[in-house]
This record gives sequence, C-alpha cells and structure tokens, in this order.
Amino acid sequence: LDSIRLAAWLCALLVAGCKGPQSVLDPAGRDAEVLAGLFWVLLSGAVVLWLAVNGLMLYIARLNPRPHSRRLAEALIIGGGIVMPTLLLSGLLIFALREMPRQREAGSGLTVRVTGESWWWRVEYLRDGAPVASANELRLPTGSRSELVLEASEYIHSFWIPAFGGKTDMIPGRTTRMSLEPIATGEYRGQCAEFCGESHARMALIGVAMEPQDFAAWLEAQADPAAEPSSPEAGRGHDIFLREGCGGCHTIRGTPAQGQAGPDLTHLGGRRSLAAASLPMERSALIDWLRDPAKIKPGARMPAYSHLPEADLADLATYLEGLE
Ligand code: CUA
Repeated sequence: LDSIRLAAWLCALLVAGCKGPQSVLDPAGRDAEVLAGLFWVLLSGAVVLWLAVNGLMLYIARLNPRPHSRRLAEALIIGGGIVMPTLLLSGLLIFALREMPRQREAGSGLTVRVTGESWWWRVEYLRDGAPVASANELRLPTGSRSELVLEASEYIHSFWIPAFGGKTDMIPGRTTRMSLEPIATGEYRGQCAEFCGESHARMALIGVAMEPQDFAAWLEAQADPAAEPSSPEAGRGHDIFLREGCGGCHTIRGTPAQGQAGPDLTHLGGRRSLAAASLPMERSALIDWLRDPAKIKPGARMPAYSHLPEADLADLATYLEGLE
C-alpha cells in the first residue's frame, strides 16, 4: 500500500507543473492545443508500449526454465518485441503526421515583427504607415491568426510562448516566420528558448491575448505619441532623460528622443513588466533598473546611472512610469 501511495504522490508532483502561464500543457492557442493533444496521445502510446513490452518480458523470463515453453516464448518475443511495437508506433506516427499540418497555417490578420535583441524583444506591429513599436510584450487578438516575422540582431534566439504554440528560431541575417492564434484571453509567459548569451535566462516576454475590439483600441492608443509629463517631478524626469542622453538609445515619440538601439519607451508605463519580464512594472523596480541594469540582467547593454543622485533617479522613474 505504501508503494501505491508513493506512486500516486509522485504522479501528483509530476502533473503539478502542467498548469500555469508558461505551460505547454495548458494551451491558450490553436497551435498549442494541437501540441498538447499530440503530447498526451504520444505519451499514452509510449506508456502502453512500455508496460506491454516489460510485462511480456517478465512473463517470458518466468517461462524460460521450462523446455516445453520455448516455442511459446519465441512467439511472444516476435509478437511482443517486433509486431506489436511496429503497429503501435506506426499508428502514433500516422496520427502525428495528420495533426502536424493543423499547426502554423498562414496568418490572415495582423503582422508583427519580433526581433531578438541582446537580451530583450523588439516588437513592431506592422500596419499602414509607421509600425507601432513596443518591447518585451506581444499582444495579439483572439480568434484570428496573426503572422509573426522573426529576426535577430546579433545572436540566435528562439521565440516561444508555450501557451500559444511551438517555438521558432530567430537567426541574424535571416527572416523566419510563424503564425499564432490565441483562443483564450489572458496573460501568458514566454521565454527565449535558445541559449544566446549571458542573460538568456532573463530574456522572457509576456504574451497578452485580447478580445479583437480591445486589441484594436489598444493598438490605436499605442500609435499616439507619448503623454506630456503630468507633474513637476515627471517634468524634471523628462529633462533628466534628455540631458543624460537617454534619447541616444531610446525613442519616446513626441519628444526629441529618437534612438533605436534600445526599447521604444513611448508607452512604457502601460507594459506589464520591465527588462524583458525580469521585474514588475513598478516605480521601485524602475529605480533599481536605472541605477544598475547589469546587476539585474548580466551583460545588459544599458549603462548604469548610479552616478545620478537618488532624487534624479526617482524623478526619472516617475516620468517613465507615467508614459502609459
Ligand atoms: Cu535570447 Cu536566449
């Protein structure tokens, strides 16, 4: 009885990881549904095969000392060791080959360009006129298939939001494509799935699936230039931002800051996370990040601003947080 209890406990522990915002087995997209279905069918087939082959092997081992059972043992070895696995594995292969085309059909609606940077995600919603730039957060409408155009700046990365679908490599100098169709609104977590350097582990992103009309309204608002500073502190933060040359790397549309090396900050305060999902979007986290980015994300390209007085860092954070 104790061993049964132990086995049940182990199974519970194993499936405890199947739910959650970054699980392949908790699908929120068409492609992820297909993948999760494939996983369970292939796993069940493998378990059946393992039990059958090992069961037969034990049975044959018990038969073996008796000479008259030799022919029976041979038949079981051929049947259980060759015929049955061939049939079962062929069945699983045919099932998998039939399911695979259900993934990654061509996109029909929105097109988004996602570029793997060191170590963050550049996200650009392509539409008539200038693309709408964002970072580290991919918002998609439910109910339609969006096309992703994947690129990389320096290193190979791999784009992966498990709840939406499979992964696709991002390769410098090349363009790869995939499409995704979210089916349940919500927030999900993605992670770079190819080792790309020092902060690979901290190269995460948030996938947000929205109702189509909410998404359209959100994209419309994202196309607007940045809000004016709404308080004297934010106004000081704005001046410090320009004085310290932050605009050399970052764009804040509607201001002289037009840099392209770092993430677009026009609507930073409206994002769910900071520094590629390393930190929550909070004032205190912003201050920590500004003070010493490499402490949070080793190898981060952004320089430290620890030379600024705390009051200046606080004003900068107030300004940036207000960019919703
Ligand atoms: Cu980017 Cu790993």
